[in-house]
Amino acid sequence: MQGYELIALKFRRHLALCVIPFVAVFADVQRQESQASQAPVCWESAECGLNRRAVDNLSYVVDSMLLPLTVTKTSYPKHYANHFPGMISAIYGKLILSDSSGHMSFIEGDEFHETGLPPIPKQQVTVRDMKFNEQSNALFACFHYVDKLDGSHHTSIAQLILNRQKSISELQWAFVYDSNHHEVAADNCVLEVSDNSIYFLIGSLKDGPPQKPYAQDPDHSFGKSYVLDLASGKITLIGSGHRISLGMTKRRNGQIWFTENGERGGDKLSYLMPGQNHGWPVKIAGTRYFHFPPSTARTASSKGAEDQHSAFSEAIYNWLPSIAPSAIIELQGFHPQWDGDLLVGSLKAQSLYRVRLLANHHVHSIEQIHIGQRVRGIQQLGREIFLTTDEGVLVKLSADEARLHADSAMPDIPGGDALGLCVNCHSFTGAADVTSGFGPALNGVYGRGIASQNFAYFSSSLKKKTGLWDEANLTSYLLDPSAYAPGTTMKIGVKLAPEQVSRIVQVLKSLR
Ligand code: HEC
Repeated sequence: MQGYELIALKFRRHLALCVIPFVAVFADVQRQESQASQAPVCWESAECGLNRRAVDNLSYVVDSMLLPLTVTKTSYPKHYANHFPGMISAIYGKLILSDSSGHMSFIEGDEFHETGLPPIPKQQVTVRDMKFNEQSNALFACFHYVDKLDGSHHTSIAQLILNRQKSISELQWAFVYDSNHHEVAADNCVLEVSDNSIYFLIGSLKDGPPQKPYAQDPDHSFGKSYVLDLASGKITLIGSGHRISLGMTKRRNGQIWFTENGERGGDKLSYLMPGQNHGWPVKIAGTRYFHFPPSTARTASSKGAEDQHSAFSEAIYNWLPSIAPSAIIELQGFHPQWDGDLLVGSLKAQSLYRVRLLANHHVHSIEQIHIGQRVRGIQQLGREIFLTTDEGVLVKLSADEARLHADSAMPDIPGGDALGLCVNCHSFTGAADVTSGFGPALNGVYGRGIASQNFAYFSSSLKKKTGLWDEANLTSYLLDPSAYAPGTTMKIGVKLAPEQVSRIVQVLKSLR
């Protein structure tokens, strides 16, 4: 083991001595407190805020495969947008938005106000993940910092116990883990707190020396996952060969699931199992930025378990091409249609992915739900799901029960069943719908300029037409598309009867 990791371990032991009794004492205090009735302290009260800011709202409906969703977007203060990642967590049912500088705000409705919680007392702090654990009544942060004495780079975990008998100004972060990487800065870390354990993963975007890449070097903490026992301070290595993870969650069955980013492909969904080597940067499931995968990766997949790389574990699922997966949560109580499913955020695809598992480790299906912003953080709070995005837009999702109970995917469209032939290619809401993206959206088409909307694939034949869509030209177009606009790319496939067309035109007329 190299010197620097020894220093880190010594430091951990030292921390364990001073921190653990602290944890034990406060656990008792909290138990007593929960029995006594307490006046709400600042971080539980709506009056806590400084700097309240109202913001603009935007709301629309998206029909996912199993659930119609109401999506509400609120832009959040510039400060957070400039200090991504915008992490989101919840303390006793209150949403907390935090940024990479460690600055935290409560979110209430469309207002944000300061928590007043203390910043992490280190230089050049970059917070990468933050989780609240009710059992220990503490916030946990995983972050990097630069030691001002020798300029060394560190990855640390600290906890902030929310002791209600203290004023906010008396609360202090206590360090529970510290690793000194000397001159190399770590790329990321994620954590999950469960019972008295902290699971965490330190990223390794940098390969390190070719003969001994960081993620494969047992003496280096980059590219490794660990579990820290809070009671004893003991740290145990779980896995190696990780690249970079932006999301980790504990499922109800106790497994710790995580997402991992490949380069141009090979983004992973997996869970932590002791002793597993996830392969980075030797065995990958996708393509690297500037190279095709090494031939060893191809033989590895074709030869299966007998190949020379069987020492590497397989992910549960690999996304090809890359979606850049971020946060991950397991849903419970949001809606029965989605109970037990995982939600994974995506930076690159600007989407949410809903993952249904079978037998805990097989992927049954993955549904992409387009959001339109780079999704970074996900927090479920009862029947609502909140997303933070790199664009500084907070997204709220809730099930649209009225639409679900109307039991029609087009309840807003009187006579909508007449459009049964059109739904394969057209959407009727104008909102992004990947499944009907073949033709332009048809809401508002009546009275609009022919081929005038923002749709990239109009034929030159339709674009040459001038004027607005009215009863006469819609009727001609739908009765015989190619006769009306020779060369049009719309092929309905059947000949519509005049009565059918007149009904369809009446419905199109009503679509705003
Ligand atoms: C197989 C796919 C497909 C089906 C089915 C289909 N369309 Fe289309 N539709 C298209 C495409 C593609 C275009 C663009 C045509 C072009 O640019 O030549 C289009 C264009 C249109 C337009 C012109 C839109 C504009 O903004 O100018 C209307 C109106 C329209 N379709 C109505 C319908 C109706 C009503 C139905 C059902 C009866 C239907 N379409 C079925 C693919 C389809």
